[in-house]
Formats: sequence, structure tokens, C-alpha cells
Amino acid sequence: MSNLTLTRRSVLASGAAALILPRAVLAAPTVLRAEPVVAQILPKGDGKTAMLGLNGTTPGPELRLKQGERLEVRFENHIGSDSALHWHGIRIDNAMDGVPGMTQDPVPDGGHFDYSFVAPDAGTFWYHSHSRSWEQVEQGLYGPLIVEEVAPPKVDHDVTVVIDDWRLQEDGTLMGGFGNRHDFAHAGRLGNYARAVPSRNKVRRGDRLRLRLINTATARVFPVIISGGAGKIVALDGMPLAAPRDINEIVLAPAQRMDLIVDVTEALRFDFPTREDPYELGRIEVEGENPNPIGGDIPTLPAANVATPDTPVHDLTLTMQGGAMGGRHTGDDIWALNGHSGLPDTPFASFKRGETARIRLINDTAFPHGMHLHGHHFFEEADGTLGDLRDTTLLNRNETRDILCVFDNPGKWLLHCHMLGHQAAGMKTWVEVA
Ligand code: C2O
Ligand code: CU
Repeated sequence: MSNLTLTRRSVLASGAAALILPRAVLAAPTVLRAEPVVAQILPKGDGKTAMLGLNGTTPGPELRLKQGERLEVRFENHIGSDSALHWHGIRIDNAMDGVPGMTQDPVPDGGHFDYSFVAPDAGTFWYHSHSRSWEQVEQGLYGPLIVEEVAPPKVDHDVTVVIDDWRLQEDGTLMGGFGNRHDFAHAGRLGNYARAVPSRNKVRRGDRLRLRLINTATARVFPVIISGGAGKIVALDGMPLAAPRDINEIVLAPAQRMDLIVDVTEALRFDFPTREDPYELGRIEVEGENPNPIGGDIPTLPAANVATPDTPVHDLTLTMQGGAMGGRHTGDDIWALNGHSGLPDTPFASFKRGETARIRLINDTAFPHGMHLHGHHFFEEADGTLGDLRDTTLLNRNETRDILCVFDNPGKWLLHCHMLGHQAAGMKTWVEVA
């Protein structure tokens, strides 16, 4: 949080900067049309921004379905170059994972691809381009994907909060240079303007909210302070916690999600802490009083249906290397994993379906990395016990973490840094489950 260079205009604009996410309750099959859009990223009255979006907006429409239901989406590409959509965090059929060159052909401009998959887990997910992602996600090609529990916990409002940053000129123009190697070698492309945009901007005092935080930024790790409500964290990366957890420090790496249930006491603020005053990312205003607050304990979400790890039959190590101020490595790009930059011809590891593996992730670089595994969730291991279930784990500089995963989803799956410029500059590999 020391490298904050965000402009402070959002503080002045405060609540006026309300841009409501389009909320589409799904009647499948649906069409997602990728195309250039003009977005009001800066506060109303300031310049607009030429971006890429889906069905006319960025973020694209919020897709919602019930756990166990099938989502059918025709993706139509009109952005002028190849693209494809990845359904981040869904334990999906490999053929629907949306990775061009690995699970499908790229969708050319003017072409389409039909995605069809069942959502096995209830939770907060998102979709985003996986084609030149450091550029297309930065330009706005993403949206929320919400899988509802069959019997959701009782709340007054279910609110998605999309957190992102952008590198903008004063007039709102999105700055170019997405492939800037200097950015790639450091923390990635950090924006100079950031927002947390809630899907609803007014509630009553006493309302109980489910907040679904999604960090869609390509590089920025967001610490967030929430004030104006009392509650608990109930899920991480779409996976329910065994018991609701106190809200102490909220930190979201790129692609990470967090669900909270909070009772509103006053205007809800989402702040980015800085050494001076907090930088306001967004807020939900309060108007009126809920005469019948739900109250009571924050409920536990129904447990995830993820296999419990056995004694690992594979003990693997994946070392993150390179970058500015980093040591030497044998790869041929800025970043490397175990001495190799970019996708190797052979997988980092091959598993028989159902095998448990422990992977020791070692961050031997001077920057944080959010490592993401496709098609599975894994347990972070803490002191030899199973910790949180995640699909993206944040490793700060010089940090090491063991993850335990039951590789039970057949196919070829990427394992990469979700600082998308790092991925573009070498920090990616893959595993195979047969
Ligand atoms: Cu959300 Cu391979 O990415
Ligand atoms: Cu990285």
C-alpha cells in the first residue's frame, strides 16, 4: 500500500460517482457480445473512457444462476482481434475453460463460441478475457458471475462490489502501453484511479447485506477497509468458510473474491488505506430505517463440496523467479517458474484423477504474486493444517506457502500469476489431470 499514486479526485466526487452495474437475471441461453464501449469511469461530468465491454457495458452484465444449473452463453467477438472468455473459479469442464491454444481455438473477430457448463459450487465468481488478458481485461472485458445457493442465507440485498483501477489521462482517456515491459518487470500495470462499484447504491439503516467483493484489477492488490456496518466474512474465492470470520484486514489480490454479510449502521464506505487520509473507493448511501431488521448471528454458508486432501502422493515445488531486483534465472523472459519462462511443452506436473498433491509455492522475487490454478480449488496449508480453500493465493515477496489440492478434474489446466503482465512475461505453467 506504499506505492499509492492514485489521484484524489474520487474523494471529492464521493457518492456522486455512482455507476450502477447492469443486473441481468439470466434466462439462458444468453449472448455476450464483446465490443468497444464508452464508459463513465471518472465521476459524472468528467470525461468518458473508450473501453471494451460486453453487451454495451464494462463490466459486462452480471450473470446469475443457481448452483447445479447449466449456463449457456454464446460469446460473440466484435473487438477487432482474437478473444475468448474464461470462467474464473468455476470447476468447469476443461473444454469450456476458455484458454485459447489450450482448451479452444481463439475466437476471431466476427466469430463466436458457445460456452455451456454446469456450476458445481455456489459462490462469487467472474468471467474475463483470457486472450492477451493483460490488455483485454485492462480494457474492460470482464464481468461478475454469481452462483446462488439453492437456499441462500436471508439478506435484504445481495450486492456485488467490483473493485478495479485504471490508468487514465486527466480527460478520462485510457492510457495505452498495455505491454509496457517496465510495468511487467515490476508490480504490473497499476492504475492511477480506483473504484469499488456496488451494484446498489442506496440501502436502509438496519438492512442486512451480502457483499460480494471482486478484485478485477490486472495487477493491484487492494487492501480495503469497510466502515458503516457490522458483520463477518463468509466466503473466499467463492468457497464458504467453515464458520463466519471477523472482519479484520481485508486484502484482495487480483482475481480474488470475498463474501461478507453485514448489518448496515450508516453509509457503507469502502476505503483504500493510505498513509494520509483513506482513499474512498466507493460507498453505499443510507436512507431510511429498516423496521424489521433480520438481525441475529451471521449465518454459515452451506459447506463446499470439495474433496478433502489425502496424504499427498506428489510433493512439488514451484519457485517464482525474476523481475526487477530479482535474482538470475534460466528462463528467456522477465519472469520464470522453476527456471522456465512461459508455457512449457510438457506440464509442470501430471496427475491421475483424484490424486492429492502438495505444491510448495516459493516467491523468490521482490514483488507480490497472486497464483491461480484453473479448474480446481486448493487448500492453503497453515502450520500443517488445512486452511482456506482458494483458487488464487497471494504470496508476498519472499513468502512461501504450501497448497494442497485434490486434482480430480480431468484436463489441461493453467497455473499462473494473476498479475496479468507477469503472466504475459513468463509467469505461467500448466498441469495435466488424466
Ligand atoms: Cu482468471 Cu487464467 O485466469
Ligand atoms: Cu506475478
